Amino acid sequence: MPEVKFYHRPAVPMEMHKVKIVQRLELLPAAERLQKMKEAHYNAFLLHNKDIFMDMLTDSGVNAMSDDMQAGMLRADDAYAGSETFYRMNRKLTEIFGMEHFLPAHQGRACEHIIAVHFVKPGKTVIMNYHFTTSKAHITRLGGKVEELIKDEGLIPASDLPFKGDIDLDKVRECIAREGAENIAFLRLEAGTNLIGGQPISYQNMKEAVAIAKEHGIPTVLDASLLQDNLYFIKTREDSMKDKSIREITRMIGDLFDLIYFSGRKFGFGRGGGCMVRDEELFHNMEDYVTMFEGFLTYGGMSVKEMEALIIGFEESMDFDVISQGPQFIRHCVDELVKCGVPMITPGGGLGAHINAREVVPHIPDHEYPAGALTVAMYLCGGIRGMERGTLSEERDPDGTEHIASVEMIRLAFPRRVFTLSQTEYVIDRVKWLYDHRHLIGGLRFTHEPKTLRFFTGRLEPVSDWPEKLVEAYIADFGEDQ
Ligand SMILES: Cc1ncc(COP(=O)(O)O)c(C=O)c1O
Repeated sequence: MPEVKFYHRPAVPMEMHKVKIVQRLELLPAAERLQKMKEAHYNAFLLHNKDIFMDMLTDSGVNAMSDDMQAGMLRADDAYAGSETFYRMNRKLTEIFGMEHFLPAHQGRACEHIIAVHFVKPGKTVIMNYHFTTSKAHITRLGGKVEELIKDEGLIPASDLPFKGDIDLDKVRECIAREGAENIAFLRLEAGTNLIGGQPISYQNMKEAVAIAKEHGIPTVLDASLLQDNLYFIKTREDSMKDKSIREITRMIGDLFDLIYFSGRKFGFGRGGGCMVRDEELFHNMEDYVTMFEGFLTYGGMSVKEMEALIIGFEESMDFDVISQGPQFIRHCVDELVKCGVPMITPGGGLGAHINAREVVPHIPDHEYPAGALTVAMYLCGGIRGMERGTLSEERDPDGTEHIASVEMIRLAFPRRVFTLSQTEYVIDRVKWLYDHRHLIGGLRFTHEPKTLRFFTGRLEPVSDWPEKLVEAYIADFGEDQ
């Protein structure tokens, strides 16, 4: 359903479900939040969930299951080998994507591990529209390199381009000519391009990019972790696809690629993952990695209960009503914040609302992590946990210099079916307050910096006493109990 119409007021996004089970939330007073943030070393990943009011860190593994998914879990067939649950999951994925072979894995990065170990050799290049943190880390760990060939316009924060995740086809051709097709490990297209703001890639662009790769015998891989929102955008923004059902679009996409992998923490509303593989020989060549790293071939590290839930979750992901709500809530949040003057990544994409940190706090230099600082400030001023997606999420260059991210943003993820409209309005309100007090926000620096994926467990400190000053201003406006 595109949108439920209203009679006496402009329409707002609607929840197409009702709440049957709830989890109590607590809004700690600001002074306590300051203490919790200190204890978490100014890294939102190190906060305890009980101290958070609106957890908008990610959509990963925190999407709400439906009653059908929970009911499905009861019939899970628990077996080390040959579980009926596995065969049901394989059949459902084959029906959706049109590929026969399924390699189960415990989550998305486990698929990336398996794919990288199989395809990447030192010096080989992986062509992408844009990297994701874990996908890049697996490739570079093995001595491979990543070429991100997204169209230049995709990186312009404020835009009205419908498909900012599209890859630049000329750059793809040029890269293959420069590197030599035999040195390209694979082409990886990421649906719902995460690190540039959940921005979609069009079907047409996927088709053309894959055709170029095929011409040169280069394997083609789709990261379908964020496919659900991307399907919504293909149907609603790509003219030639508007009369197709979500199921038809998914199948057309499936027919393009040699391999499709996904994080079931995102695609399917559950927890798990796996790779669909077209070619039987490739499947057999990769299956050893599942048994070596993940588990036996009929569970791959997943619990059978989650697998049963995912089977139903995949089916729900084919339902236009179900998949419309996330992008509609995100668009509402983005549009309202734009009206408040907050620099946002536009147009609103999937996954979450993304704030352009470089423009909000231009006084913070990149090496003091503007988006990281804004993430800290967001928790202090509202108990909202977002995720830094910028320089802090990058790895240093081999000579130790900071790799400055092309996009510096904070993501406010909308886990699917989790938040209501009033909670969304609260977030809009607090972001507006923070924007009006942005001059109070200062930078961060590392006190402990892990070498790989440093944003997960790194420890930081503020460069001055700005968090105290910010909290003082907040209490002056909202009182001590908020
Ligand atoms: C596009 C994309 N690919 C891969 C992954 C990795 O998936 P997982 O977190 O399940 O390991 C993620 C996770 O956020 C993602 O967004």
